[in-house]
Amino acid sequence: MSDSTVEFSSAAAPLAEKLLEPARAILARYPAGRERSALLPLLHLVQTEEGFVSPNGVAFCAEILGINKAQVGAVATFYTMYKRRPTGEYLVSVCTNTLCNVMGGQEVYDQLVEHLGVGHDETTGDGKITLEHAECLAACDYAPVVTVNYDFAIDQATPQAAVAMVDGLRAGERPMPARGARLCSLRDMSMQLAGFADERDGALTDGPAGAPTLRGVTLAQEHGIAVAGYDPDTPITKTKPAPREERTSQSRVAGVAREAASKVKAAVETVAATATGSRDKADRTTGAEKAEDPQIRTAAARNPDAATPGEPPAPAPGGPPPPSAEGAAAEAAGAAANPPAGDAKPAGDEPGETVVSENTGSADHPTAEANPGWTGAQPTDEEKK
Ligand code: FES
Repeated sequence: MSDSTVEFSSAAAPLAEKLLEPARAILARYPAGRERSALLPLLHLVQTEEGFVSPNGVAFCAEILGINKAQVGAVATFYTMYKRRPTGEYLVSVCTNTLCNVMGGQEVYDQLVEHLGVGHDETTGDGKITLEHAECLAACDYAPVVTVNYDFAIDQATPQAAVAMVDGLRAGERPMPARGARLCSLRDMSMQLAGFADERDGALTDGPAGAPTLRGVTLAQEHGIAVAGYDPDTPITKTKPAPREERTSQSRVAGVAREAASKVKAAVETVAATATGSRDKADRTTGAEKAEDPQIRTAAARNPDAATPGEPPAPAPGGPPPPSAEGAAAEAAGAAANPPAGDAKPAGDEPGETVVSENTGSADHPTAEANPGWTGAQPTDEEKK
């Protein structure tokens, strides 16, 4: 599309008047014909003006991209960073996900609810603070974590520290966060998220990883634990689609694995049915395979006891109960479909070894159908049953 030709509707026109220039700059980052990929930064741009994605913002994005409002709405309502209601100057997010919760995140959140008098996704009367409880904020090593406008504001937070911080923000202070850049307003942050540089003093910082992040490495060093032969300078193998002939051979291997798994399952079912005295049922369901399948005959010859009618073996005292027939079949099928790696290393660790992309239908739109090798490695719905 060419935005110079867009006649904005009355809903979109006020935003177009203010945002057309940066919106054009965003569109210019994308190849001709692919401008609709600019929707995510455009939605952040809209939030710089309105503090949330309003219906007018949806109209502006739709009209400048030449798509419909339902398409914009589908994206804007999918991501939690696009707000659907007016948001305060500071979005305070308290992680209450598993690890932060265990470490006291819920207490921090509850204390803020009580202190601010607002709940999740609500804003204080002065328009300063919007509170939300968040899913994992990707800083579990510093749990519990509080962010302000997506900057890490308090590591290993306590209710007292969180209350002191929001009081400071409401009083017009910009406290230095535990890590990262100096806190900014949500609109400033939205401008960064739209892809524009933040010229403020101290807007950007960088530094080494902190002690909690390095705790695992430190412990390993203290205890002399190292991965044998590990070279930290080993170049990372690039992921690329496997050649077609390689995929075909993977498909064949997967097919053989499936066939073997189904035969093992049939054999285990036969043995289990016999052991529990259900000979009639076993004969009805697997009699033909038993008479014809050489693998079953071989299994019976190797382990004649398994075919002996009688009670199943008693579990060892204090030991785990014997697996059920269904469990044994599932385990055997899983083992057949997942042969162990020879050296316990993930694929691609060896020099020259190719990591196979799981979806290689085409460069732009990979599909499982186009990569039968991958499809074969995953159980189908029918196999799961
Ligand atoms: S669980 Fe809170 S940051 Fe991961």
